[in-house]
Order: sequence, then structure tokens, then C-alpha cells
Amino acid sequence: MTSKLEALTQWVDQAAALTRPARIHWCDGSQDEYQSLVQQMLADGTLIELNQTTHPGCYLHRSDPKDVARVEHLTLVCHPNREDAGPNNHWMDPAEAHAKIDALFDGCMEGRTMYVIPYCMGPIDSPLARCGVEITDSPYVVANMRIMTRMGAAAQARIEREGTFVKGLHSIGELDPERRWIMHFPAELSIKSYGSGYGGNALLGKKCHALRIASNQARTEGWLAEHMLIVGIENPRGETHYVAAAFPSACGKTNLSMLIPPEGYRRDGWKVWTIGDDICWMHPGADGRLYAINPEAGFFGVAPGTSDATNHNAMQSISHDTIFTNVAVTADNQPWWEGLPGTPVTDWQGRPYDPANGPAAHPNSRFTVSAKQCPTWSAQSEAAQGVPISAIVFGGRRPSLLPLVMEARDWNHGVLMGAAMGSETTAAATGAVGVLRRDSMAMKPFCGYHYGDYFAHWLSFDRPGAKLPKVFHVNWFRKGADGKFLWPGFGDNLRVLEWMIDRVEGRVGGVETPIGILPGEGELKLDGLKLEPAKLDELLDVDQAGWQAELAAIGEYLASFTPRLPEQLAREQQRVAQALQGE
Ligand code: GTP
Ligand code: MN
Ligand code: MN
Repeated sequence: MTSKLEALTQWVDQAAALTRPARIHWCDGSQDEYQSLVQQMLADGTLIELNQTTHPGCYLHRSDPKDVARVEHLTLVCHPNREDAGPNNHWMDPAEAHAKIDALFDGCMEGRTMYVIPYCMGPIDSPLARCGVEITDSPYVVANMRIMTRMGAAAQARIEREGTFVKGLHSIGELDPERRWIMHFPAELSIKSYGSGYGGNALLGKKCHALRIASNQARTEGWLAEHMLIVGIENPRGETHYVAAAFPSACGKTNLSMLIPPEGYRRDGWKVWTIGDDICWMHPGADGRLYAINPEAGFFGVAPGTSDATNHNAMQSISHDTIFTNVAVTADNQPWWEGLPGTPVTDWQGRPYDPANGPAAHPNSRFTVSAKQCPTWSAQSEAAQGVPISAIVFGGRRPSLLPLVMEARDWNHGVLMGAAMGSETTAAATGAVGVLRRDSMAMKPFCGYHYGDYFAHWLSFDRPGAKLPKVFHVNWFRKGADGKFLWPGFGDNLRVLEWMIDRVEGRVGGVETPIGILPGEGELKLDGLKLEPAKLDELLDVDQAGWQAELAAIGEYLASFTPRLPEQLAREQQRVAQALQGE
């Protein structure tokens, strides 16, 4: 019988025997350690110092130009049984996968330092938190993991106590796209990632652990690991409701989690508290409610488009002690991206800026910053028991059909709304316009098992004694005939959140329709907002023919998960389709 501590040291020894590093460094997570890594990276060019007067403690990293994003076709979920991965994942047999990637790991750290990073996803003393250890040869990964997770000595102590942890082995390898894999072994609680230094591929605590592996743990242990923000809404009476919301990438999670209330709301005393901007773990509590923690400790946010006008709180957060990846710089060495005032002189690849080369900052350039630097950071982020969730919100970019907001009649209907989620491509992207991509619960790239089983898991939360959150679907992106957004969005989204909370509290009745419950006359508070009544009508319109076609499309999509599609969900789709016929 190996001791709990030995389980860790044996695995580190094995990894060292395979990769043959020159030295091994166990990370303690201290400020001194962080500083010395930064100095070392400044010396070898991995980091570039930014203007320390305007941006103290801020650094720039330029990645390899062929290594700038998640690589879904090289991301595998290696269940022993192929069917368990589902049509929503790429799969490889675990033995074959290990052999393939171990051949790449063989001797790959020769001459390099191997860093051992113990980390905890969630508050360090929370029973809802889970730990992992990432082994990497990238000091950039270490520095980012220190910001994004609770990393170091305290996490290692918990791991030595519990004995269970997710094992993540990572090497940047040669950064060759032909020699790159991101592999997940849910049955072994392990991750192997080779050949990429990009956040989503290399910071293994984030998407790999907290979503793909954790979604499997959550399924067996009876909780939910979701691609959701968590935000607290405090009303003038000092009551706070917590809302969790799933939107696909680039659909506004970071924005909503840091929302600034419209002026009238601020005057009245409304406040918004940020708990998380990307990932949410929810567990049923003893009282039947769902309690959520943010497993992360930092934000890895998209830089382009972030400005004082769109997200003032994010701008405040990243004014110091931030790592920027693949942004441009100005003449006085400040970080720059599209959407900011001023002009860039050097682009994300370090070339003199020339518009002929495309945007100055890479469209997927990012900032890494501690959550505590956010002006709206909530102390409840550290609560061991998590925060009770009053409402779950789904949403996506739907230029037409989907109303500004609708409420599911019950949990099953809510699960259908989440499963049916999607986003339409816009003219801003290449390819056909108005093509709908389904992205159930915004988890298409992150659900570590068969979507059919995942829907069944969601449905299973509706059981005796459960006091589940109300479920809503929002659409900030509905467009009018003029091609412009009908809804002002951003801070004004608080008006929609207020309606949801009024529904939770039973203060407003709503209007029942075949697709769900919509705000009744006068229930959305629009004072101080210039919104023509015709636009509001359009935002809350239910187009029966359009919805019949939508339900048929949802039915077709769900059928692609046969034979694992839960009968209950198929019946729910039929119920809504029939309600629409009966109108
Ligand atoms: P990941 O971090 O990649 O998971 O994505 P995210 O969901 O955090 O996306 P993010 O907040 O970075 O998306 C920002 C995009 O959504 C920008 O293009 C914003 O302009 C846009 N956006 C956010 N909120 C609103 C809104 O209320 N209305 C409109 N029209 N656009 C919005
Ligand atoms: Mn985000
Ligand atoms: Mn995300």
C-alpha cells in the first residue's frame, strides 16, 4: 500500500524518468518564487517588460505565431469505451493514446527544468474544491497557474492529506503543430498535453481539469462542472441573489460577470459582485439548493474589445500585475489592442505595426490577472460552502427569433433550453452568415463525455427535496431590420436580471407562451432607457412559424445523440412542439 504522499512522489518520479529534465523544482506559490521566475523569463525573452510607470508589474508574452488558440481537432477524450466520449468529442483508445504521446514526452525535458505545480481548484478549505498537480517545463505556465489557481504549499498539503488529485503532464515540446496533442484520461484522472504553450492547452487546471475531467467527476459524484460565470446582484435592501450563466465563447460571460449598473440603479443602491467569469462548479446542498464555487482564482480574458466603455471593471483589474499574451504595444510601451484609444507601433508578433498584416493584437490575445484585482470582486468567492444559485441563465448570439428573455416552465424545460442553445455566425466571421451552431450549455468543446449522458445527468437533479434554481434563456444579440442590435445590452442587462429575480421572488407573474414565460406588460423596468416601444415588442415577440421550424431543428439535433438521448428530453421537445401547433 503506497501512502498518500508516495502517490504524488511516485508519479513525479515516473514523469521525470520519462522526460529526463536537468532539474526538478517543486513550486511553493510564493511571491519570491513568482518574482524570480519573472526575472528569469525577462532575461531569456519569454517575457517583455511593459511600461512600469503606467502598468506596474505588467509583462508581455509573445507566443509562437502557430500556437495561439485551443486546438479542438487535437483535443482527445480517451475513455476506455469509445461510446462514452460521444459524437461531441474526439476519441482515441487510452493505450494507443498513451503510447503516442509518451513517445513525444520521451526525453523532451533534457536540459530543461521540470516544474511541479500543486494547485487547488476552488477555495483551499472548501469540500467542493478539487486538487491537481501539473508538471510542466514552461515557466510561463507556472506564472499563469499562480494567477489562475490557488497554487503551491497549501494545495500540496491538501493533496498529501487526501491522496486524490488530477495528474497533468505538460511539455511545450518543439511547439510544432504536427507534434501536438491534448489528451484526457477521465478514468485515470489524468491529462497529457504536448507541443503547445497556449492557455487553454497548457494551463491544465482550466479547461482540461476544471471542465473536461471535472465534468466526469461531477457526473459520478452528483454535481455539475459548467462553462458559466457567477455573479451576485445586490438590491437596495441589501439582499443578494447569485446567478450562474452559460454563454459560448465570445458571447459576453466576462462582461456580464463585471456588469456596471445603469446610472439610475447605481443611485438607488444596486450593486454587482463578481465571483467568476468562466467556470462554475455547482453542488446540491443539504437544503436542496444548488451551491456554486468558482474553481479559478483569476481571469484569462479576451483583450480585444475590452475598454473603459465596454468593461471598466476589467480595465481597472488589468492596470497592474497582469500578464498579457499576444497584444500589441504603443510607442511608450503600453499594452494595446483593437478597441482601445491610441495607436500601436509594434504588433503581436513584434513586427512594426502595418495594417496590411491584419490586426495589431491577435484576435485571441488575452490577459491573465488575479480575480482579487477586480473592483467588484466578491469576498464570497472564498466561501467554502459556495453561494446559493437563484437562477441559471443560458444564452447565445441569435440575431433573430429568440426573445430578449424567457423563463423555462420547469427544470426539464430548462434542460431543453440549455441543450438547444446555439449561436449564429455573423458577417464579422468568414463563411456563411446566419448559420446556427448548436453548443449545448456552451459545453461543446468542454463536456468530457457523451452529451446524451450529460443531458441525463442534468435531468437527474430534479428529485424529491430539490429546490432548484429557475432557468432562463437570454438573447442580448437580437437584431432589427436595420441590422442593428435591438437591445442596448451591457449594463442595461441588469434590467433583465432584475426581472428574473422578481420572478424568483414571485413579485411578477410573467406571461405564459408555448416557448416559455416572458415578461408581462410593464414588468421589465425601462426607466431612463430610450427604447422605442416597437423595439421592445420585437424583442419579446413569439414568431410561431419560426418557432415551429426551430423546434424541428432542435429535434433533429437531439436525435444525433441517439441511443443515449434521454427519453424525457425527447418528450420535452415534443411537448413544446405540440404547444406551438396548438396556438
Ligand atoms: P470566453 O472567455 O472565451 O469563454 O468568452 P466570454 O463569454 O467571456 O466572452 P467575452 O465577454 O470576452 O465576449 C465579449 C464579446 O461579447 C464582445 O464582442 C462584446 O462586445 C460582446 N458583448 C458582451 N456583452 C454584450 C451585450 O450585452 N450586448 C452586445 N451587443 N454585445 C455584448
Ligand atoms: Mn471570458
Ligand atoms: Mn471560456
